[in-house]
Amino acid sequence: MNYKIAVIKGDGIGPEIVSEAMKVLDFIGEKYNHSFSYTEVLAGGIAIDECNTPLPQKTIDVCKASDAVLLGAMGGPKWDNLPGDKRPEAGLLGIRKALGLFANLRPAILFEELRAASPLKSEIIGEGLDLLVVRELTGDVYFGEKKRDGDEYASDLMNYSRPEVERIAKVAFESARKRDKKVTCVDKANVLETSRLWRKIVMDMAKQYEDIEMDYLYVDNAAMQLVVNPKQFDVILTGNLFGDILSDEASMLTGSIGMLPSASLGDSSFGMYEPIHGSAPDIANQDIANPIATIMSVAMMLRYSFGLEKEALDVEKAVQKALADGYRTADIATDTKTSIGCVEMGKVILENLK
Ligand code: IPM
Ligand code: MG
Repeated sequence: MNYKIAVIKGDGIGPEIVSEAMKVLDFIGEKYNHSFSYTEVLAGGIAIDECNTPLPQKTIDVCKASDAVLLGAMGGPKWDNLPGDKRPEAGLLGIRKALGLFANLRPAILFEELRAASPLKSEIIGEGLDLLVVRELTGDVYFGEKKRDGDEYASDLMNYSRPEVERIAKVAFESARKRDKKVTCVDKANVLETSRLWRKIVMDMAKQYEDIEMDYLYVDNAAMQLVVNPKQFDVILTGNLFGDILSDEASMLTGSIGMLPSASLGDSSFGMYEPIHGSAPDIANQDIANPIATIMSVAMMLRYSFGLEKEALDVEKAVQKALADGYRTADIATDTKTSIGCVEMGKVILENLK
């Protein structure tokens, strides 16, 4: 079968890490007899430079006509002084919205081999870490009305409607059913009206999911619990802003933000797959970036958009073997002298797929 993939390499380290991930896809295609065809399109800083907008209409059209989107990262200091709606990040937010990708799945799994790279003490990690952040992605203060009066006043409206909360809560409940059957709803219901509605809707829905154990935490407490007792979490269900913050925190518990993939999904199997880290312009074009998060994102694409579970597991095992064999990029190496580059890490993983 042929799968059409729109590729947005983006800025900074984006092109380097996406190239390694595409090699993995090509190899999987040959090994299992699938064909993947790519259409490269622009978004983010490079689109500002070449098309004068962070999100050209053509990019949206090509993505919509594809089965999945593979994305690197967007942004960089070059575009930092542009107004909010002209920045590269506006391209990323715009594409999530245009494609209706309201559910962002961010798994944080600690590879046993990277235990030493985690900032947590070994006794806190216990037998391992495996949690899933389910972050709402097309609502909240990210997309509410924005106002700005020069240097005097600014406001961003935080809002959620019932259907928006119901559809993301459903994703969290269904995900938990395939895991350890626990959902922690994270909000700020002691202060925010938006959170009070969010929590009420989640509580109502929980009645239909009696097999799921529920917990409700305020976001400040959740941020603390992640470092003192991360093992209490299975699925974290939260809004766009809190999910952004908590997923960075959760990712670091696994040793490096360079390890974690994400899937952004809507109502169908179509999805966009990207590492959760940023464009890291400071290390771009030096062949030192870690391609693992993007390669693991490809595994999520195979699983969620194409239903190719065996192929997804194959990729994940190849990554694990690379780590077990001691290969490390600089971000996860304990001794940077022996670390390998981005291309080399890609090669090692490809070799493990043979
Ligand atoms: C993320 C990023 C984005 C976000 C930025 C780059 C707009 O931090 O995907 O987590 O805030 O969603
Ligand atoms: Mg973020």
